[in-house]
Amino acid sequence: NPTGRTLTLQRRHQVAELLKKYNTLLVEDDPYSALRFSGEPLPPICSLAPELVVYAGTFSKVLAPGLRVGFCTAPEVIQKWLVMAKQGVDLHTSTFNQALAAEYLAGGHLQAQLPKIIALYRPRQQAMLAAMRKRFPDCLHWAEPAGGMFIWVEGPPGSDMEAVYHQAVKEHVAFVPGQFFYARPGGGRHTLRLNFTVVDEPTIERAIGLLGDILARELA
Ligand SMILES: Cc1ncc(COP(=O)(O)O)c(C=O)c1O
Repeated sequence: NPTGRTLTLQRRHQVAELLKKYNTLLVEDDPYSALRFSGEPLPPICSLAPELVVYAGTFSKVLAPGLRVGFCTAPEVIQKWLVMAKQGVDLHTSTFNQALAAEYLAGGHLQAQLPKIIALYRPRQQAMLAAMRKRFPDCLHWAEPAGGMFIWVEGPPGSDMEAVYHQAVKEHVAFVPGQFFYARPGGGRHTLRLNFTVVDEPTIERAIGLLGDILARELA
């Protein structure tokens, strides 16, 4: 997120080798790997260099974002520091919510639920990509992600997707202008991120049609 790219197995091994060579710590933020629509499952980098990776996961995408429960694995030497930092930030994650998440896992519900979520999201992604191919102007480019919730789109240099956004919301179509994912002020004004998980296929088709017309108008 936001690009929807998946690191290949070879790149994962290369990153693990670099961590070992330079004895460096990596933070691996992995909220979407369970939502994989195509290709083989890939190992997280933490499994290739467990002593050098702090791995963060979440129940937000596979159970409920409102629970606010995530999890983390870390090399033993820094675990106690992470616990202290977490206590400093929010004192404690709801025990009830943690128990719910534990029950969900222990009862095998995640394995049962994942194929259902994927069966719901995959056709939505396909519907969005098909509509984009049909309705978006040729000057836009995007990748076809192997999973996740988003499609990352790049417009021509100099285009302003925030201006497009303001036109789109007038027609009740929303997206995230890509500039908000950039650390550098002014970066990424030509990019946008679309979500395909929230609404059904006919709504996606209608929204992409509207957005395609707005993009064609604004980028003309
Ligand atoms: C890159 C990334 N990391 C982590 C998360 C996890 O968020 P949460 O705070 O809901 O666990 C998200 C969710 O949007 C995300 O996109």
